[in-house]
Amino acid sequence: MHKDHTADNECLLEVRNLWKIFAKHPVDLNGQDNEDLEGLQNNGAVIAVKDVSFQVNRGEVFVIMGLSGSGKSTLIRCIPRLIDPTSGEIIVKGRNVLEMDEKELIEFRRYETAMVFQHYGLLPHRTVIENVAFGLKLRGVSLRERMDRARYALARVGLEGWEKHYPAQLSGGMRQRVGIARALVQETDLLLMDEPFSGLDPLIRREMQDTLIRLQKEVNKTIIFVTHDLSEAVRLGNRMAVMRKGEFVQQGTPEEIMTNPADEYVERFVADERAILSGSKRQSFYVSMPNRTNKQAKSTSPSAPLAAAGRR
Ligand SMILES: Nc1ncnc2c1ncn2[C@@H]1O[C@H](COP(=O)(O)OP(=O)(O)OP(=O)(O)O)[C@@H](O)[C@H]1O
Ligand SMILES: [Mg+2]
Repeated sequence: MHKDHTADNECLLEVRNLWKIFAKHPVDLNGQDNEDLEGLQNNGAVIAVKDVSFQVNRGEVFVIMGLSGSGKSTLIRCIPRLIDPTSGEIIVKGRNVLEMDEKELIEFRRYETAMVFQHYGLLPHRTVIENVAFGLKLRGVSLRERMDRARYALARVGLEGWEKHYPAQLSGGMRQRVGIARALVQETDLLLMDEPFSGLDPLIRREMQDTLIRLQKEVNKTIIFVTHDLSEAVRLGNRMAVMRKGEFVQQGTPEEIMTNPADEYVERFVADERAILSGSKRQSFYVSMPNRTNKQAKSTSPSAPLAAAGRR
């Protein structure tokens, strides 16, 4: 993931002033001030996403971090409108997702985005290859082509030979590989990943991160990746945002956030990571900082400081 993006500066996704308020009745944010918002909250409304703006360039991995309940899943689900935002704009390749009608939205979900969830969401009564090919079936792709493409996607995630197994016969890590293959096979530019590796044990989790790093080099997707884990964010992200109570409290490269946390909340995430990068490890980390390519080489080598620092 840690590649230089100077040549690749097309903005693929832009989110502008996005709000999501869960309330009993629809909320119109026009003309609302802070007091009105407080009133809403006192009446049981939850401001899950609060005036969030960010841009992601083609080929970038943008990581969203934050404590449980900070609004990460709500935000990522707003992008394909699995949750309808209360207000704001979501522009993907120049088109505002919030202005799409039903038909355009179905097409957008089918052709422009793919999602990977923490709990895999595989169909239990279908084989591995059928699970991967399923989205292509919905698109009307012929049986032969979808099986070819599914087989290829499975090979990419290291699951050749497992095509005819059922999800229950696989380990958690393997199931998530199926989840990734299912997303890859769609050949969408945008990949949305909501804590995809959180359910996996530490070694498998690192293996999956390595797989994603390798795949990203091969296929150059644009990825929005949600995690609780700063070491995962540092390994995978070109840029990241830290969320608290629906707001982005800080955005920047992982290095910027590590070296200059905006407030105590961010500092708390960073402190743990810093402790791990202490002593000689920390020195090497800072030496590698100015150059992403340098850091990439370090982070993918087993003896590198960042790799050595990752616990998961
Ligand atoms: N359908 C809903 N109705 C009402 N409130 C909701 C709904 N979905 C989420 N929320 C609230 O919105 C806030 C943000 O939730 P969200 O699931 O986005 O957080 P998260 O950062 O993904 O948390 P976690 O790390 O635990 O997955 C929480 O206060 C949650 O209770
Ligand atoms: Mg969540």
